[in-house]
Formats: sequence, structure tokens, C-alpha cells
Amino acid sequence: MGAVEFRDLRADDLPALGWAGSPTHLRSVAAELERAARGEVDYLAGVVTDGGDGLVRAVGAVDHRATPGRGALFQLVVHPDHRSQGLGTALVGALEQRVRNRGNREAYLEVEVDNPRALALYERLGYRRGGVRTSSWTAERADGTTYLHRTRCRVLTRGLD
Ligand SMILES: CC(C)(COP(=O)(O)OP(=O)(O)OC[C@H]1O[C@@H](n2cnc3c(N)ncnc32)[C@H](O)[C@@H]1OP(=O)(O)O)[C@@H](O)C(=O)NCCC(=O)NCCS
Repeated sequence: MGAVEFRDLRADDLPALGWAGSPTHLRSVAAELERAARGEVDYLAGVVTDGGDGLVRAVGAVDHRATPGRGALFQLVVHPDHRSQGLGTALVGALEQRVRNRGNREAYLEVEVDNPRALALYERLGYRRGGVRTSSWTAERADGTTYLHRTRCRVLTRGLD
């Protein structure tokens, strides 16, 4: 992997983010960008600059409002063709820096219990397992219809230096 740089995600990036999720998911990203404009969220785009083609290859956000004093990382996705090269690790680090920039020293996130690869990544990065809780969000079937996806997620927490 070449060098990766992170910048704020923009609305004009969305048409090229089909790899990151369904149209329903991208509408929720657009809504989060409105929250970012109000300073409630940082939404980052990772671009491989060194030998890359300048396209966004990783996205992820941190919510500064969900819990006072803590940053909630969410919607982390690396382009499928660019996984296992350290982009996810770099994305978590960039989001944690946005937490520190707000004067906060704890980050947390939720991982679906059937996503062992993401769980292993976060544990390698120093996140500690907390409890499991039920979460739900609007998801999209292949035919474009939507449904409420209910799932069990583990909460992971990390204190930041
Ligand atoms: C989870 C996710 C974000 C991780 O992104 P990633 O870019 O693959 O993460 P990394 O490359 O930093 O680390 C993943 C693996 O690559 C390895 N790796 C890291 N840097 C590497 C490098 N320079 N060279 C080779 N391998 C490397 C890590 O050891 C790790 O090992 P694993 O394959 O056994 O898990 C990505 O898989 C993804 O988008 N998944 C789908 C969406 C999702 O599940 N999001 C998380 C929701 S909580």
C-alpha cells in the first residue's frame, strides 16, 4: 500500500462510493455529512496518494455527540479490493485523532457478533470487549426493498493516550 491520507468526506464523493454500501446506506452517509457540517460528526475519506489513483478507498466516521466525553466510531468500510493492507488500521487511527482533537480520551464502537475479522482488528488495536446489545438499522435487499435489520453487537472500548 502507498501512503494513505485522510480528509473530510464530501457530498460530491458519494456517487463513487457504491462499493461502501447500498443506496440506502449511502443515504444515511449523506445524512451524517449534514451532521458533520454542524460539527457533531467527523466523516473521513482515505485516499492512497503514493502510487494510488486518487480515489477514496476507505471511509469511516466518529460521532462526538452520542456520549459526552467519548467518540463513537461508526460506518467504517474499506474498499473490498484494498483490504488487508493496513487501510483499516490507518482509518481507526485517523478517527481516534479526531476524538483527541475534541479533547476526549476514549473511543468506542459496536461490532456485529458475526463479524470476527473486524473484532480481531479492533482487539489488535487495543480495544477491549464490553457487553453485547441489540442494535437495529435500515438495510436494503438486493431487489432494493428495505427492512429493519436487528442484530447483536459487541461494544468495544479503548482509552486514548
Ligand atoms: C473491517 C475492515 C474495515 C478492516 O479493513 P482492512 O483495511 O482490511 O484492515 P487492515 O488491513 O488494517 O487489517 C486487516 C488485516 O490486514 C493485516 N494487515 C494490516 N496491515 C497490513 C499490511 N501492510 N500488509 C499485509 N497485511 C496487513 C492485518 O494483520 C489484519 O489481518 P487479518 O487479515 O487477519 O484480519 C474491512 O475488512 C471492511 O471494510 N469490512 C467490511 C465492513 C465492516 O465489517 N466494517 C466494520 C464494521 S464495525
